[in-house]
Amino acid sequence: MAILVKNIKKLVQVEEKPVVWRAGKEMRKIYSIEDAFLLTKEEKIIEFGKMCDFSLEKLSKIKEKVTEIDATGRMVFPSFCDSHTHIVFAGSREIEYVDKIKGLSYEEIAKRGGGILNSAQRLKIASEEELYDAAWERLNEMASFGTGAVEIKSGYGLTTETELKMLRVIRKLQENSPLIIRANFLGAHAVPLAFKGKQQEYVDLIINEMIPMVAAEELADFIDVFCDKGFFTVNETERILMQGIKYGMRPKIHANELGYSGGIQVGVKYNALSVDHLEYSGEEEINCLLNSETMPTFLPGAAFFLGMVYGPVRKMIDAGLPIALASDYNPGSSPSGNMQLILSLGCIKYKMLPEEALNAITINSAYAMGISDIAGSIAKGKIANFFITKPIPSIEFLPYAFGSNKIEMVFLKGKKYEKIING
Ligand code: NIG
Ligand code: FE
Repeated sequence: MAILVKNIKKLVQVEEKPVVWRAGKEMRKIYSIEDAFLLTKEEKIIEFGKMCDFSLEKLSKIKEKVTEIDATGRMVFPSFCDSHTHIVFAGSREIEYVDKIKGLSYEEIAKRGGGILNSAQRLKIASEEELYDAAWERLNEMASFGTGAVEIKSGYGLTTETELKMLRVIRKLQENSPLIIRANFLGAHAVPLAFKGKQQEYVDLIINEMIPMVAAEELADFIDVFCDKGFFTVNETERILMQGIKYGMRPKIHANELGYSGGIQVGVKYNALSVDHLEYSGEEEINCLLNSETMPTFLPGAAFFLGMVYGPVRKMIDAGLPIALASDYNPGSSPSGNMQLILSLGCIKYKMLPEEALNAITINSAYAMGISDIAGSIAKGKIANFFITKPIPSIEFLPYAFGSNKIEMVFLKGKKYEKIING
């Protein structure tokens, strides 16, 4: 199958020579082509350029049927990459949300057995099928808002059996969904009730039992730890990351959401692909990230929902760092996977320019989930994941008109995406 999108008002985030990420001042650069075409074949982008350079000769080389789409007045963007989510979960936690409105902190709710442990209890009794169907619906909605790639974490199981159950659900989503999906093993998300007061034993269980079993079924690309005040220490994080690396999983961790936890430093030490949250980051953390291969990732949905401090994104960009933004879609701290909203929050709350925020949810977040060679921009050979907007006046309109869906049509792996029921 081939698709030709013609008369595109603006083809956004094109790359002749693909980069792995954009950092510092480069984050202000978005290359676009006005009055453009885009040609895809099977799963991939094969050609793009100005309409005046388009000739029917290009089509004659394609053997299969070509579907033509006229995008007059509309823009085309590469699909967003959401590099941090927890979308396999059971039920919802709006009661805690009301508790938060009444003044309880995230840590206080966690201490009462709410938070992650509440989700763990619900997940335990949910069947694989129920979890799959609910996550499938979430993916449907995320795709309709422009997301084409998603990293999904385990971490609401917290026993060997239930962590494996979550990861098998993610595997099944990966097999059936047209989105690009990567899996992250987050056994160290919280200490389960059964191990209360015996945190070391739980860490040992993760290291000696969970990681080898996850690896034996090749269920995870990444290893994650919630390295923060009241959760896992730097020392525990190191032990877990070392074992994960030994079993072929690259670190990608939760750090510095609740305090100066040392999580950024330990992430960089073990060459994490990304360190995420980062509300508490100062000079030391910024210096540590410079000259590393680790993507600093901010989750404005969680900071907004929890009413937290906003991390020093501007300082980091001004220091020359790249930044990625992701949704953190989860039932406790960010119950939304709408990346258009994340784009707006990036601009409004972190004072990112629209171009910076757009790089942060495309090429940089692609890097943060290890797929910047196949996604995150419009480039020849990359996967044909893109969307056509409704008629909109400018790139800036996308974050500006927050709260509404500016997308008319979505394409994933070179096919028009319609809501898929019973995936
Ligand atoms: O990324 N910070 C840790 N974990 C999740 C929250 C999960 C939950 O509350 O269920 C997060 O925000
Ligand atoms: Fe998270």
